[in-house]
Amino acid sequence: MTKDGLKKPNYFGSLTQASTVCLGSSLEGDVYIPMKDVLPMVHPDDIVFDGWDISSLNLAEAMERARVLDFDLQRQLRPYMENLKPRPSIYDKDFIASNQESRADNIIPGTKNEQMEQIRKDIRDFKMKTGVDKVIVLWTANTERFCDVKPGLNDNADNLMKSIKMNNPEISPSTLFAVASILEEVSFLDNQWNIFLIQVILVK
Ligand SMILES: NC(=O)c1ccc[n+]([C@@H]2O[C@H](COP(=O)([O-])OP(=O)(O)OC[C@H]3O[C@@H](n4cnc5c(N)ncnc54)[C@H](O)[C@@H]3O)[C@@H](O)[C@H]2O)c1
Repeated sequence: MTKDGLKKPNYFGSLTQASTVCLGSSLEGDVYIPMKDVLPMVHPDDIVFDGWDISSLNLAEAMERARVLDFDLQRQLRPYMENLKPRPSIYDKDFIASNQESRADNIIPGTKNEQMEQIRKDIRDFKMKTGVDKVIVLWTANTERFCDVKPGLNDNADNLMKSIKMNNPEISPSTLFAVASILEEVSFLDNQWNIFLIQVILVK
């Protein structure tokens, strides 16, 4: 229930599910088809979600903490969200704001290489348990500080892999996720400039 009355779930506003593409014109006028029929696309209902977070809150608690969704929607979503618990993630306080420290209670221990190997294992575990056709890792964690591309540190794939093995402190958590995804041959999308550079370096 919203202030405008009862609302049922729908895909209005979804680019793939609700919009159309003009294919051209016929004598009867312009011809439009749903965007989801232009190319083979996964239906959003078939997407399986999993993920990592440095905070151990389950997704119902995280939804409450975020204070984004209306209360009544939160109440209805709670049963679907509370069993979803994030996998431990890589925390490095040198890269994100200090106010994140108090929530960082769900952390992968070890060296940078060991942490990256754990992410790779998580990706394989997810693939095996769900049997999905394709995995996309999406980085939506807090913005990290910038890291420079420095000769010997991360200016090519070999140096980057060496720096990870040597536990170099300039290697950010998002970089470790990007490299783990590339090594597992899964897609990686992000909102971090650091990672964009890493992908260019590795894909080259
Ligand atoms: N909220 C927006 O409107 C918006 C818009 C554009 C871009 N962004 C960007 O998206 C990102 C997330 O924003 P948000 O509003 O969802 O923030 P948020 O604080 O609600 O969520 C970020 C989550 O990331 C987790 N996190 C932090 N470091 C992590 C790590 N190393 N590994 C795994 N999880 C980690 C935090 O515990 C938190 O749960 C930020 O980089 C932000 O700049 C946000």
